Amino acid sequence: MTLYPLFLPPKTSCHPFTLFAPSMAVADLNPAYTTDFTNSKISYVSSSARLSHHRRLSFRHRPRSPTPAIRCSVTSDQIQAPVGVDAKDLKQKPECFGVFCLTYDLKAEDQTKSWKKMINVAVSGAAGMISNHLLFKLASGEVFGPDQPIALKLLGSERSFGALEGVAMELEDSLYPLLREVSIGIDPYEVFQDAEWALLIGAKPRGPGMERAGLLDINGQIFAEQGKALNAVASPNVKVMVVGNPCNTNALICLKNAPNIPAKNFHALTRLDENRAKCQLALKAGVFYDKVSNVTIWGNHSTTQVPDFLNAKIHGIPVPEVIRDRKWLEEEFTHMVQTRGGVLIKKWGRSSAASTAVSIVDAIRSLVTPTPEGDWFSTGVYTNGNPYGIAEDIVFSMPCRSNGDGEYEFVKDVLFDDYLRKKIKKSEDELLAEKKCVAHLTGEGIAVCDLPEDTMLPGEV
Ligand code: LMR
Repeated sequence: MTLYPLFLPPKTSCHPFTLFAPSMAVADLNPAYTTDFTNSKISYVSSSARLSHHRRLSFRHRPRSPTPAIRCSVTSDQIQAPVGVDAKDLKQKPECFGVFCLTYDLKAEDQTKSWKKMINVAVSGAAGMISNHLLFKLASGEVFGPDQPIALKLLGSERSFGALEGVAMELEDSLYPLLREVSIGIDPYEVFQDAEWALLIGAKPRGPGMERAGLLDINGQIFAEQGKALNAVASPNVKVMVVGNPCNTNALICLKNAPNIPAKNFHALTRLDENRAKCQLALKAGVFYDKVSNVTIWGNHSTTQVPDFLNAKIHGIPVPEVIRDRKWLEEEFTHMVQTRGGVLIKKWGRSSAASTAVSIVDAIRSLVTPTPEGDWFSTGVYTNGNPYGIAEDIVFSMPCRSNGDGEYEFVKDVLFDDYLRKKIKKSEDELLAEKKCVAHLTGEGIAVCDLPEDTMLPGEV
């Protein structure tokens, strides 16, 4: 076992900094990071010590980071370790970042006395465009409320690690009072530790010539691994929002790999589709979009999704009574919502990011605040126990309500007609076919992939 000396700070100061170069010997450290040792509160933890700590958690190899990075590592009780102590024996929190390593005492600060207990929110794909909008909303209090301190646990990839540090620096510089901790990493088994919310954004985009079956497999593997990691280290009641596409089937894979977490805690993001549908209905009716309610997106976040105008309301009146143009509703409106992502990609040259982040905020807020009387929201959830006759054991977007405690229930009084049933069936068939494609990732045997020909993500038009 390699032992390295530890230089520890006075008890009242910042927690000891760790100069940590993953998978790198101390001698390899970049001199630019070797700050003033006499005054600095810097301790070295060898890569081998880190790895053994890490292995206890995950038994996985930690990938090599291209450059060493300075982070703060906090010992839970600020132990004054004697020189030569085996660093792996110190109980360590996952690494924190920069200013977020400083000690604080929420109870002691006047401003914070009324605050709730801090929550841990993990975000994957944290260096990406969607996260770049989302993280600042999370940190500002816009999502969980102005009295909810938050710890952000940011998961990136080896390739994006520099950008991840950049994100953490911008969060530091934003001086959000509610943002009390930020940690960054590339291993889900470390980053998801104690997560109470996991917002799974990171996924591979479909590359040129890639079959959808290939995309399901590549991204499915990411979500299988992340499901396992959540199962192993997250809070047992963690709420999981899957954003990375194909999000319904990714959510199914994730939940199947996390048997200790209730399946109903997993969501696939279809709120962006709901928001898009509300906007188009408002535009057609000539009202502002706050007058549109009860919009359900049924099914898959794909071009088979069903924006339900039958149950939607404008000013509390059923949409078909306000927009008396059934052909427009069935054809133009439906197609517009189903393919909005693709139209946007053509304009932007990339997928929606800001509106996706906003819809993640909306989706979370729908679960942590009571649903307004008579209204509901759409979210892709596990179908077991659904009252609509939709096949069990898939993740399907349906109308839900919440009393604001993070849980939800299905809405019961929903109308169906033949048109709606037929459309829903198509999305259901698509998801059942996707499920067969990923049987090797859900523990259900050998994958057989025979997808309907027109199966596409909203962005693939
Ligand atoms: C969106 O709906 O904007 C995205 O899911 C589109 C896509 O396919 O990336």
